[in-house]
Amino acid sequence: MTIDLAVIGGTGVYALGELADVETVQPQTAYGAPSGPIRIGRFAGKRVAFLARHGEGHSLPPHKINYRANLAALKAVGAARVLALNTVGGITKAYGPRVLACPDQLIDYTWGRVSTLCEEPGSDVLHVDFGDPYTPSLRREVLAAAQRAGVTLVDGGCYGATQGPRLETKAEIARMRRDGCDLVGMTGMPEAGLARELGLDYACLAIVANWAAGAGPDVDEVITLQDVLDNVAAAMDGVPKLLQTLLEG
Ligand code: HPA
Repeated sequence: MTIDLAVIGGTGVYALGELADVETVQPQTAYGAPSGPIRIGRFAGKRVAFLARHGEGHSLPPHKINYRANLAALKAVGAARVLALNTVGGITKAYGPRVLACPDQLIDYTWGRVSTLCEEPGSDVLHVDFGDPYTPSLRREVLAAAQRAGVTLVDGGCYGATQGPRLETKAEIARMRRDGCDLVGMTGMPEAGLARELGLDYACLAIVANWAAGAGPDVDEVITLQDVLDNVAAAMDGVPKLLQTLLEG
């Protein structure tokens, strides 16, 4: 059975309350087990799969997530399109706390993560095109749905994926700004690259939880988990409506 849309939830998003008639599956994949169960249900008359990237109890830090298993499991249950929710820090002016954004570029600063399907001896070597890391047609659909739903969504921006789990230094953020990053998060890669290798359509809905280190009006502001969670909860207000409109097509 096909899935109309898979949603991967990030920090602060551990379930999709709108799913009805939920069936839970625990697929194993050639790459191991995903972060947790996949919940499959109906939303706006469509079949939607949801997976909490960090596990439903947020037990997995970004560098310990089995990104390959997560995406392979979503593909195995019939998903061809993935909307990734990523909690991020904002670096440039348009990306302050509580903003929703749909980035169109990324820079990968992560290291030491299993970042390709071509890891095992004998696996095919894949040099997938990644010039546009997010699937343009899915991005367009998400942006159009936001507009129809009356949900403000910033179009574009460059997501810088850092290793974490610590937050960045002010100098690291200043460098990322010079590199052209607008957003910083810890889970955008290798997820987007693996989605491309697996032939999945993939777009990112970034939820800005805080100003990145030194990027806000108060350069000495300390980032707390409570601020992150409060801002994500507030920014998530419009997301169910956006998803509903996206699913209704
Ligand atoms: N940096 C990296 N990842 C994040 C941040 C941040 O400031 N906020 C939420 N995720």
